[in-house]
Amino acid sequence: MSTAQAIPFIQAQDPAVAELIRGEEQREADGLELIPSENYISKATHEALGSCFTNKYSEGYPGKRYYGGQQYTDKLEQLCIDRACKLFNCKYANVQPHSGAPANIGAYYGILEAGDTILGMDLSHGGHLTHGHPVTHVTKSFNFVRYKMKDPDTGEIDYEALRETALKEKPKLILCGFSAYSRELDYQKFVDIAKEVGAYTMADMAHIAGLIAGGAIKNPFDYGFDIITTTTHKSLRGPRGGMILVRDSEELAKKIDKSIFPGLQGGPHMHAVAARAVAFGEALKPEFKDYCQQILKNAKAMEKVFLDQGVRLLGGGTDNHLLLADVYGSLGVTGQEAENVLDEVGITLNKNSIADEPRTMFDPSGIRFGTPAITTRGFTEADCARVAELMIEAMKNKDDQAVKDRIRAEIKDMAHAHPIPDSFVKAS
Ligand SMILES: Cc1ncc(COP(=O)(O)O)c(C=O)c1O
Repeated sequence: MSTAQAIPFIQAQDPAVAELIRGEEQREADGLELIPSENYISKATHEALGSCFTNKYSEGYPGKRYYGGQQYTDKLEQLCIDRACKLFNCKYANVQPHSGAPANIGAYYGILEAGDTILGMDLSHGGHLTHGHPVTHVTKSFNFVRYKMKDPDTGEIDYEALRETALKEKPKLILCGFSAYSRELDYQKFVDIAKEVGAYTMADMAHIAGLIAGGAIKNPFDYGFDIITTTTHKSLRGPRGGMILVRDSEELAKKIDKSIFPGLQGGPHMHAVAARAVAFGEALKPEFKDYCQQILKNAKAMEKVFLDQGVRLLGGGTDNHLLLADVYGSLGVTGQEAENVLDEVGITLNKNSIADEPRTMFDPSGIRFGTPAITTRGFTEADCARVAELMIEAMKNKDDQAVKDRIRAEIKDMAHAHPIPDSFVKAS
């Protein structure tokens, strides 16, 4: 029996879109997904996304809506909030942000005034666009000041410099949590510095939220962080979406709620809230803890191969699900060339700037990759070590078609030997 997502109505009504869905299904089935922010959602989560909740307008919050007919949406959103709070050990959750970027923007506007200073990580050291890249709107409202890693080869943050900058700049918010950073953070140090200068602490856990929920890495709330923002996709393995969590301050939680609606967004996407509730239910199960442990083991297995073969890893290695390799410095292959050759052999990942990038952001020195998606497919440490070997071989032989063909065939065999499990969205 075919396990492909049934799309009979699209097939009948809109063959052009159906063909593209089938194409993407096949691409996902045949190749290996190493983009660290991607994953597969469960069929149960997918059903919720496709449910009738997509028809409903629910501006406001449970018990305080601007439209009638909320007897099910109110219960649904409360269920989603309760599960989020249980997962992350906090008192308040806003589950309405449409994605990670609006979650961050909503949090800033909720707790800060225009002109306030935010102390965030230097973007080339792993921060996200919404942490104050000049191309983003938030830089028109807030003054972003930077801290850095002390040494990109250990990944350690320069906490001394961070403290000095905080004392000088008097930020209202100290921000951590990154898009391309592979090490654990010393959350206590952030909290201590923030206390000294009277700043809020916010951790953008978009990448590692699943690992925190699964108890595999530290939870910033255990160290007294005020706010966590996150995506609900990536390692958390839910639908695309965002969320803002507040540890225990009702006052902060109220400000955040007001900022998301009516400040930033209109009606919540209740079908996406339903899907978040289902995914959070999955993340609360013991199996999810095992999944997170395996993500870490798999990343360590890849780390070993890269280091053994003399490829520099930023941060010196990984404590989480992702690795950032300086392939230009180590192999003479640019990030763009590496992305291209790996795409050719069936491995999807992205080029990425490294700390203090000597090249351009359009063709930087690094590649970023990670293990959440292949771990969902059941890859073990041995499989991941083999994938790492093949990646390095492909990069070293980027102009040798015969080698690339052989690697492509092996990758496809590995992908087919580890199909996306039947309970997840996939092709036949
Ligand atoms: C750390 C971090 N924050 C925020 C975001 C933004 O999330 P989204 O793409 O869902 O808006 C990302 C996305 O990559 C991220 O890595």
